[in-house]
Amino acid sequence: MNSRVSELLAGLAPSATLAVDAKAKALKAAGEPVIGYGAGEPDFPTPLHIVEAAVKACYEPSNYKYTPTAGLADLRDAIVEKTKRDSGLSIAANQVLVTNGGKHAVATTFMTTLNPGDEVLIPAPYWTTYPEAVYLAGAVPVPVMTSEQDGFRVSVEELEKTRTPRTKLLVFVSPSNPTGAVVRPDDVAAIGRWAAEHDIWVMCDEIYEHLVYGDAESVSLPVVAPEIRDRFIVVNGVAKTYAMTGWRIGWMIGAPDVMNAAINYQSQTTSNISNISQRAAVAALTGDLEAVAMMRDAFDRRRKTMTSMLNAIDGVNCAEPEGAFYCYPNVQGLLGRPLGGKVASSSSELAEILLESIKIAVVPGEAFGTPGYFRLSYALGDDDLKEGLERLAGLVAAG
Ligand SMILES: Cc1ncc(COP(=O)(O)O)c(C=O)c1O
Repeated sequence: MNSRVSELLAGLAPSATLAVDAKAKALKAAGEPVIGYGAGEPDFPTPLHIVEAAVKACYEPSNYKYTPTAGLADLRDAIVEKTKRDSGLSIAANQVLVTNGGKHAVATTFMTTLNPGDEVLIPAPYWTTYPEAVYLAGAVPVPVMTSEQDGFRVSVEELEKTRTPRTKLLVFVSPSNPTGAVVRPDDVAAIGRWAAEHDIWVMCDEIYEHLVYGDAESVSLPVVAPEIRDRFIVVNGVAKTYAMTGWRIGWMIGAPDVMNAAINYQSQTTSNISNISQRAAVAALTGDLEAVAMMRDAFDRRRKTMTSMLNAIDGVNCAEPEGAFYCYPNVQGLLGRPLGGKVASSSSELAEILLESIKIAVVPGEAFGTPGYFRLSYALGDDDLKEGLERLAGLVAAG
């Protein structure tokens, strides 16, 4: 009998992070005092000058029409300038494709570069979308384990152990979701050289480039490892930097031949991205980084609060993240012991117990390829952040 949905989509996992967030929001809407650590989105409003640019765009009739698939010329130019300003990478406008958010740029990258059977190295813990998007492109996701002791930073040694003749592409993300790990500039350069030496492409996900704290430094792989030549794709977007998750603007940067293929693909799937959102993104990218600095300071403060509150809980161990807005504590010490009358044998069971008994929503490590951990976003208000962790501490102390 024919199945009602395609075999490909029947085999696709839903996004665990979106699912946790949706559940938390639904419970909250139903009046439950839920505190959500699930979503990877800033709690701040989009800065006003960006919103005003969108309002203005609503009154401009040219925005009511189809526009070029690859993106508005103003936005592609702004991305060229912004890329030079922020990471030092020089590109031309024909190397840019504006996409429906960074996630769409990730999926388009895999669609554009992979053939069936190609292997893609994905450092674990990984953002839950990477392996599924590789699967959709018909290729094979291959996790590369990193260790908590090394701050979850991927190394050439581990990559080399996992490389095979079928390895086509490496996913490189720093700062990382879910761990907040930031790879040191020298190591980024070494990873880039290693990839170049073995003819491996690199997709560099730079969505958290502005969210680094303390002495950590985020660098762009093709800048510190020019040996990669034209076998890189940079993925980026406005969501995390400018508190614009709902506006859905991302982009992909690559060699012109690759970008032509990506633009063709987009021309047959989405056509242009919303002109109003594109106009807002132009304002974001051409404006200053003052609001970004303010948000980063708040995240930095919350990062420290969350890390120390987590580490004060018996059975929880959390390395201080250096970037993005997530803590990724080891919670193995909470498994197999009574918590609010229940006992969890896995981090995903534990996440369910926490939502039921103390109404806090976290994403279990199973979603990121490493059971025994949780991801908690600290992009939420300071009071909620503290209150939820006090609930957790209380639950653990009561046993
Ligand atoms: C590592 C990483 N890349 C890309 C994205 C995509 O962001 P968006 O599609 O909202 O632009 C996210 C969002 O969570 C992310 O964490």
